[in-house]
Amino acid sequence: MNSKIYFSLFLGLKLIVLINSKKLRIIEGEYALPGQFPHQVSIQAMTLDNCTDHLCGGSIIDEWHILTAAHCFTDEFTHQFVDMPLTVVAGTVDLLNRSSGIYHDVLVVFIPFSYTLNGVDEFNHDIAILKLRDPLPLGSHPYLGVVNLPASDQYLPPDNQTAIVSGFGVYNQTDGPYFQIISSPKSRYLKFNYGTINVPDRDGCLDTQVCVESLKLQKGYLEGACYGDSGGPLYDETTNTLIGVVSSKRYEWCGNISRFTRVSAHLDFIHQVVADKIDSTILYSTQSHYYGSQYHKYTVCDMD
Ligand SMILES: *[C@@H]1O[C@H](CO)[C@@H](O)[C@H](O)[C@H]1NC(C)=O
Ligand SMILES: *[C@@H]1O[C@H](CO)[C@@H](O)[C@H](O)[C@H]1NC(C)=O
Ligand SMILES: *[C@@H]1O[C@H](CO)[C@@H](O)[C@H](O)[C@H]1NC(C)=O
Ligand SMILES: *[C@@H]1O[C@H](CO)[C@@H](O)[C@H](O)[C@H]1NC(C)=O
Ligand SMILES: *[C@@H]1O[C@H](CO)[C@@H](O)[C@H](O)[C@H]1NC(C)=O
Repeated sequence: MNSKIYFSLFLGLKLIVLINSKKLRIIEGEYALPGQFPHQVSIQAMTLDNCTDHLCGGSIIDEWHILTAAHCFTDEFTHQFVDMPLTVVAGTVDLLNRSSGIYHDVLVVFIPFSYTLNGVDEFNHDIAILKLRDPLPLGSHPYLGVVNLPASDQYLPPDNQTAIVSGFGVYNQTDGPYFQIISSPKSRYLKFNYGTINVPDRDGCLDTQVCVESLKLQKGYLEGACYGDSGGPLYDETTNTLIGVVSSKRYEWCGNISRFTRVSAHLDFIHQVVADKIDSTILYSTQSHYYGSQYHKYTVCDMD
């Protein structure tokens, strides 16, 4: 069977730690404390029936910009923008505690033109930047902070240091009928786990990606990014630096080796967007909705 069948994206997902039994997968992930990952955001879309739906993770790189994954905002097949009213929820580890977060509407979504050049099974250059309508109050909120960008030569192989993956994605998968894998609903709480960067992957890992194996997988337990974690950070906590962006998993079950977009390979894109130097290497989509601080009054779509 073609391994690409098992190559799926982490859109609409959670973070998991799973026992290696395909009958029942038990959650063991660690819960993040308030302010532990102050750069982590939840990127949400308002659905047609007016509930707020966690879509993807992202990282605050400055008061105006969130770094995330292109596949969160583009059609799976055409890689063209999908029109959804997007809002960023920052400063919280509990998406159902509406008083703990702050809510900022998205004004523009930027992706590299090179992302759209890749076919359906390729997720190269899976990176995006959201520009907010209003700046984040970075100095005046206890649980908000920026993550540093890496230098162009940082975190390259053979560096195999430990890094952290965090997200609001699914944490539980079970066997369904007809060999289906059933994932739990998304998680209200932020979770995280540790992994080793730049591990070899059977199917190869592009230079523009970082392949990561969790420390538990090395002992036979599945653990790691899953649906809903897309766009979120692969993080070096010792230097507060962003190494990668959750992009996709290569194998059947979540928690096996997962793939991240290598941030250091996309610094030109990032610097261009942040400096507002938009040229033909960058595509963008502008948003016009305005929920602002009223966003928290809408119902949250189903979560665990
Ligand atoms: C959603 O909210 C808008 C604006 O308040 C309203 O016009 C629309 O009817 C609502 N849709 C549903 C399905 O409730
Ligand atoms: C919600 O978040 C606020 C601010 O962080 C906190 O003080 C409060 O205890 C939280 N409420 C619940 C029910 O967790
Ligand atoms: C990391 O790399 C070093 C040097 O190549 C090697 O000795 C070590 O076993 C590696 N550690 C892991 C966890 O792969
Ligand atoms: C996994 O998720 C399903 C569906 O939400 C739930 O019924 C089941 O109890 C969960 N299992 C564990 C071990 O958490
Ligand atoms: C991870 O995926 C590989 C390739 O499909 C497979 O051989 C291995 O058993 C998987 N690991 C676990 C713990 O399921």
